[in-house]
Amino acid sequence: MRPRHVYCGSPDVEDALLSELRRHSGDVSVLAPGLVRCGVLVDAVFARQVLIDAQLLQADNPAALAAAVLDVDGLPFAGSLIDVEAPELPRTGSRDKQRHPLTETAAVLQDTLRKKTEGRRQQGKLGAASSSRLRFVLTAPRQGWRAIGTDVDVDPLTAWPSPFPAGRAVAVEQSRNAPSSAHRKLEEGLAWLGDAPGAGDVVVDLGAAPGGWTRVLRDRGATVVAVDRAALDPMLARDPLVTHLRKDALDVDLGALAPAFVVCDVIWEPKITLVVVERALQVPGLRGIVATIKLKRPVDHDVVAQSVELATNTPGFSGRVKHLVANKLEVTLLIRRD
Ligand SMILES: C[S@@+](CC[C@H](N)C(=O)[O-])C[C@H]1O[C@@H](n2cnc3c(N)ncnc32)[C@H](O)[C@@H]1O
Repeated sequence: MRPRHVYCGSPDVEDALLSELRRHSGDVSVLAPGLVRCGVLVDAVFARQVLIDAQLLQADNPAALAAAVLDVDGLPFAGSLIDVEAPELPRTGSRDKQRHPLTETAAVLQDTLRKKTEGRRQQGKLGAASSSRLRFVLTAPRQGWRAIGTDVDVDPLTAWPSPFPAGRAVAVEQSRNAPSSAHRKLEEGLAWLGDAPGAGDVVVDLGAAPGGWTRVLRDRGATVVAVDRAALDPMLARDPLVTHLRKDALDVDLGALAPAFVVCDVIWEPKITLVVVERALQVPGLRGIVATIKLKRPVDHDVVAQSVELATNTPGFSGRVKHLVANKLEVTLLIRRD
């Protein structure tokens, strides 16, 4: 049987995931909104999770589905790591308040599977827990795709499959007093980066206004140089941890500011963002970069590939480019010093 890897992403960029995977293989098809099957294994930018050699399981009732999910070629699943997820909803104006109709079913099934496995272990039927991880993504109340693997790499910046269930790093709610909803992008990006600024770190925030990212950074104790030609949220403008440089981000001398992190959310042509990221990589002592690459339809996969090349092939750094849950038609470039 041909291998079937199931890629999980956002239904909003399913077209981009399809065209990205088709650059690697002709063996690509949509299974459900945001779930795409492909015959080859790649770290797709527009997928946040991959189910390697996934199997479609279905049953007539919840108990039979639980039994099928834990049945691995006639043997009971012996790992202790079990993630059951619902697929992602398309983004609408009020997605924050929406939950996928399968979210509750996924939570109940996950609880059942974990209890069943724990019960079997306590009865001495399973032996010591293996380091296997079972991932199951529901596509209907009693149907979904399962993959079983061993997490050899758990670094969120490099691991594939992602250590985050369904590749959803952090469930960041819209904060009521945040200057913009953009803060969710940065929180999620920092979780993938596996490092984050803290007290005493200088961070340059390019394209900072109105200040969602700056707020995240200063709340972590960092000293922020917020660069934007537009006004910052008045509270942040008065904040002693924040300095507003009201100028063009291209005119900032990053070397002189000596930041530990550079973050960038400027709506630029991708090539300009990549030039600025290259400049940031020259800063001695720089620990990390989070930058959004703004895209248009149809997605220019050459420019996405250039971003991946910069993130993954810069000596002394590790990196990745991902479409995050909080990204619209953009991807996030993440780079961390080794
Ligand atoms: C998507 S918004 C940033 C939102 C911000 N990250 C937040 O969390 O609130 C993009 C920002 O880039 C700024 N911008 C666009 N071109 C710029 C440039 N050349 N130099 C500095 N800022 C720029 C805009 O004024 C705008 O505030």
